[in-house]
Amino acid sequence: MTDYVIADETDLQPRDGTIKLHGPAGFAGMRKAGRLAAEILDALVPLVVPGAVTADLDAVVRDMTLAAGALPATLGYRGYAHSCCISINHVVCHGIPSDRVLRDGDIVNIDVTPLLDGWHGDTSRMFLVGDVPLKARRLVDVTYECLMIGIEAARPGARLGDIGAAIQDHAERQRYGVVREFCGHGVGRLFHDAPEVVHAARAGTGPELRPGMIFTIEPMINLGKAAVKLLDDGWTAVTRDRSLSAQFEHSVGITEQGCEIFTESPAGLHRPPYEPAAAA
Ligand code: MF3
Ligand code: CO
Ligand code: CO
Repeated sequence: MTDYVIADETDLQPRDGTIKLHGPAGFAGMRKAGRLAAEILDALVPLVVPGAVTADLDAVVRDMTLAAGALPATLGYRGYAHSCCISINHVVCHGIPSDRVLRDGDIVNIDVTPLLDGWHGDTSRMFLVGDVPLKARRLVDVTYECLMIGIEAARPGARLGDIGAAIQDHAERQRYGVVREFCGHGVGRLFHDAPEVVHAARAGTGPELRPGMIFTIEPMINLGKAAVKLLDDGWTAVTRDRSLSAQFEHSVGITEQGCEIFTESPAGLHRPPYEPAAAA
């Protein structure tokens, strides 16, 4: 049995396994934090180019977050010392910004989480560095489709497992691996809250989706097998078979009608390539 509680939007309720049902104040807070998160990713688009240093991109995220009166939620989170995660090629998630220089052909996920006025906007996108081979671009395209197909399954009356089922079905049709070790999560005043939103599941299972639920969907899809391993730094997750991995993440809220995406790009930079389409 799942317990749902009406969220107290003014208080920081601890994580206790219950699913919070948010009201207008929570949705308003998430709209602002989510918009800032998306604007930060928009601003990174021209900067993710061959020769860019990932620590410099992290500094841009930090400065933009602070300039907006927000804090990077990852900074100091369980000892993590950076303002975003930058995961390149076979890195699945939680890549640490460093002196690594981006090279032509890299595929890169940047995951940002500004904490604005008490609310966490959590989102990530893939970026293509220079000329990226077709196989890698296809992985990125399908991963974006997985996120949006998952979001389409997120509506009142559906079950949480319907999201993962839709994502898994789409990824496995292309013979891609769906990462199991990391999931989406409730989000709001807490960075990581109940429920866990798994990206591989059986349709019709799990808690019912109710208006007011706020969570992330953030599928990690591998070109090869699903298995991952953690590097000795304790953060960086990589594919065991060293195949490429891609991820997109949105923070969403269940509404009476369906689902609201809080972290959609105001500039329309939803997926790469981010260049405006050439005139026909
Ligand atoms: N933003 C990540 C997520 O989507 C969490 C990163 S936690 C960190 O949940 F400490 F690794 F930064
Ligand atoms: Co997240
Ligand atoms: Co994230």
